[in-house]
Amino acid sequence: TITPVLLCGGSGTRLWPLSRKSYPKQFVPMTGTETLFQASARRFSGGDEDLVFTAPMVLTNSDFRFIVTEQLAEAGIDPGEILIEPEGRNTAPAILAAALRLAATDPEAILLVAPSDHVVPDIPAFRAAVARGLSAVRAGDMVTFGIVPTRPETGYGYLELSGPLDASGAPLALSRFVEKPDADRAAEMVAAGNYLWNAGIFLLRAGDAIAAFDAFAPQLMAPVRAAVEEAKTDLGFLRLAPEPWQQAEDVSIDYAVMEKAANLSVVPFTGGWSDLGGWDAVWQASAPDAEGVATSGEATAIDCRNTLLRSENDQVEVVGIGLDNILAVATGDAVLVADMSRAQEVKTAVALLKEKG
Ligand code: GDD
Ligand code: MG
Repeated sequence: TITPVLLCGGSGTRLWPLSRKSYPKQFVPMTGTETLFQASARRFSGGDEDLVFTAPMVLTNSDFRFIVTEQLAEAGIDPGEILIEPEGRNTAPAILAAALRLAATDPEAILLVAPSDHVVPDIPAFRAAVARGLSAVRAGDMVTFGIVPTRPETGYGYLELSGPLDASGAPLALSRFVEKPDADRAAEMVAAGNYLWNAGIFLLRAGDAIAAFDAFAPQLMAPVRAAVEEAKTDLGFLRLAPEPWQQAEDVSIDYAVMEKAANLSVVPFTGGWSDLGGWDAVWQASAPDAEGVATSGEATAIDCRNTLLRSENDQVEVVGIGLDNILAVATGDAVLVADMSRAQEVKTAVALLKEKG
C-alpha cells in the first residue's frame, strides 16, 4: 500500500481575493465543484489491485484542522492521521515528520507526498504514473514526477534527465535537481530540452526519506524527531510538540534534500498538471471557450476574449463587455480587476494591502 501524505500548510497570496490567509486556495473550489484539497484527497483514495492507497495522512496547522476534517467528511473520504504543525516550517520538516511517524510502525512504508493545491484532471493517468514509479522506489530511489516545461518558469524545480525518455514512461534516473533557478538558467534549461519541471510530488519509502534527511539535512533530525516523539493527541489530531518544532529550520525539501541526493528518479507525466500559481493559471485550468472566455458564478461575458470573470458571491453580478485579456474576480468584500498578463502582481497588491492594514 501507499500512504498519501497531503501537504496543506501553505497560504497562496497570488489568488487573492479568493485565497485568504485564513482560508487558502487549497480549501476553495478553484475549478469544478470540489475544493482543491478534496480533489487531491480523491486522487489518491481507494485504488485498484495494482495501486492501493491507505487513508491519507494530512499535515496542516491548527487554524485549518477543522476545515480539513469537514472537507474530507463532505467528500466521503476517511482521514488517516492528521498532524498539526505548531507553525509553518516549510515542506522539509513536515515531510520528515510524516516519514518518522510512518516509519515508527513500518520503515518500508511508501509515502506519496503531494501538495493539496494542484489541479491534475486525469486521475487514471496520474495513478498509472505513480504505479510506474514503484519499481524505482523498491530499488531505493526517491521518485519525482516530471512535467514537460512550456516556459522558463523560475518558481519551479528542474529535473535534469540522465538520458532520453522512453515512450513507456518508465522511471529514469536523474542527473540533477535544480530548485528555482534564476531567469537565465531557467531559459537555458528549457532550451536544452533534457529537463522537466518538478511537479512537487514525491514517492518515497519512509526509511529512505529519513536516511536522506539524515545525510543532507542532519540539523532537522533532532528537533523533528523530538516533535514527533513528544506529539500529543488532541481531539483526534496529532499535535507535534511546539518547543522542538520551533528549533527546526524553515526549509523546503527541494533545497534541503532533493538538490543533494543522488538516488533520484523521475517518472514523466504528460497528463494535465497545474499548480494554479496565479489567476492566469486558473483561467487556463477553467476550460475557457473558443474565444478564451471562462466565467464562474454570477458572471456574464459579452463580446469578450481571453478573459476570466468570476463572482464568488451570488449577490454580486459580474458583467464584462468587450474585454480582452482581462481577469475580474469579485468576492463578498473585494473586487480584483487586472490585465491577464500581470496576474502575478496580485502578490504585490496583497503585500501593499497588508501594509495599509
Ligand atoms: N503542511 C505544510 N506545512 N505544508 C506546506 C508548508 C508547511 O509548512 N509549506 C508549504 N506547504 C505546502 C503548500 O501548501 C504546497 O501545497 C506544497 O507544500 C508546496 O509548497 P509551495 O510553497 O507551494 O512550494 P513551491 O510551489 O514554491 O515549490 C514546490 O512546488 C513546485 C511545483 O508546484 C517545489 O517542489 C518545486 O520544485 C516545484 O516545481
Ligand atoms: Mg506551490
